[in-house]
Amino acid sequence: MARIEITGGVPLDGEVWISGAKNAVLPILVASLLGDKPSFISNVPHLQDVTTTMELLGRMGASLAVDDRMRIEIDPRGMTQFEAPYELVKTMRASILVLGPLVARYGRAVVSLPGGCAIGSRPVDLHLRGLQQLGAEVAVVNGNIEASAKRLKGANIIFDTVTVTGTENIMMAATLAKGTSVLENAAQEPEVVDLANFLNAMGARISGAGTNTLVIEGVDSLQGAEYSVLPDRIETGTYLVAAAITRGHVRATRTRPRDLDSVIEKLRETGAEIEIGDDWIDLNMHGRRPRAVDITTAPYPGFATDMQAQFTALNTIAEGTAIITETIFENRFMHVQELQRLGADITVKGNTAIVRGVRELNGAPIMATDLRASAGLVLAGLVARGTTLVDRVYHIDRGYEIIEEKLGQLGARIRRI
Ligand code: EPZ
Repeated sequence: MARIEITGGVPLDGEVWISGAKNAVLPILVASLLGDKPSFISNVPHLQDVTTTMELLGRMGASLAVDDRMRIEIDPRGMTQFEAPYELVKTMRASILVLGPLVARYGRAVVSLPGGCAIGSRPVDLHLRGLQQLGAEVAVVNGNIEASAKRLKGANIIFDTVTVTGTENIMMAATLAKGTSVLENAAQEPEVVDLANFLNAMGARISGAGTNTLVIEGVDSLQGAEYSVLPDRIETGTYLVAAAITRGHVRATRTRPRDLDSVIEKLRETGAEIEIGDDWIDLNMHGRRPRAVDITTAPYPGFATDMQAQFTALNTIAEGTAIITETIFENRFMHVQELQRLGADITVKGNTAIVRGVRELNGAPIMATDLRASAGLVLAGLVARGTTLVDRVYHIDRGYEIIEEKLGQLGARIRRI
């Protein structure tokens, strides 16, 4: 089991380039199944979840190739089977995203019901209900979702809860339905907008992406498209917090500042000096200790739940006390007990964590539990005195491209062992 060893105490300094967004590339790769022609996707990050998704599509019969410009070509014309088996779904819950496209384009799908994960029960009831409202027969048999439909029909769908992949699944399915669909209380995340842009490039007719109401006029078929995935706002935010927690100076390049308004505002509240360009964000802490900042997670454009663990880590060494409220997932404080092993002073009450800043953390062996929690632990290791060993780093590899290289370039003493 690979581990990451960090010797803390170095203020990060330098430039880091940002990769394509994991949570956009996964639905976009799957959306290519809807087309009658190959699609070409670029700015794809080299992540475990991308590899898993490509394996899943390959198993169904799509042919995939990576060309010399690092673009992924997906040709869906060889599709022969329409299943997402348990052994793949259990490693990546986002496999649920094949459900809508398979039913819409091929009339049927068998997708293993994704189990829960470390951060919560992660139900998919809104995905299934949306598909039923589009006219699909949906049943759960022996742990599998079995869905079928001759031709989906447009419908008006209101999501009880804002769901990112639920919105994406139903939006993809509705592109080939007969008639128009209206999705209300839809997710507004930039990754949802990126997927809508890709689908429209394939010939779909989607309007309202980025608002809470999507209107999708069904068409009879979609072509292929060339598309470059948007930069990863969560990776960007993670490196900016790395600069703040180590009192350093880092410029994140090849990113999209407008996607990080709530994160930038919070970082300014900690006392960071932030400059913004058209595709870069520069954070300078001027060697100062960060001030504590309160966080309440919410659907976009609110503060991202995927940035909560990173800010919890930042608050462990900040000046003052912070209140962190997690409103999206019921168990997303798994990183807290690991941070306490480093000497953090945190009290969890229900979905709220009270973080009292301490002057110093001390390195220790700790364990990653989920993707973003592990990023928070790495950030704490960057500032803890002595050596921190983070175990189960496969969680990190799912969402962060070459994290130790990128942090190493910024001066961190970090290596994989
Ligand atoms: C997406 O997960 C992201 N994953 C998550 O990122 C992210 O944390 C999450 O959105 C919230 O922003 C991908 O995009 C691949 P939700 P998703 O459906 O779509 C409830 C990462 O680290 N819900 O928006 O699964 C659910 O329980 C990952 O990259 C239902 O009740 O999240 C949760 O409380 C982790 N029924 C809330 O909605 C449903 O049918 C939001 O979940 C679906 C969701």
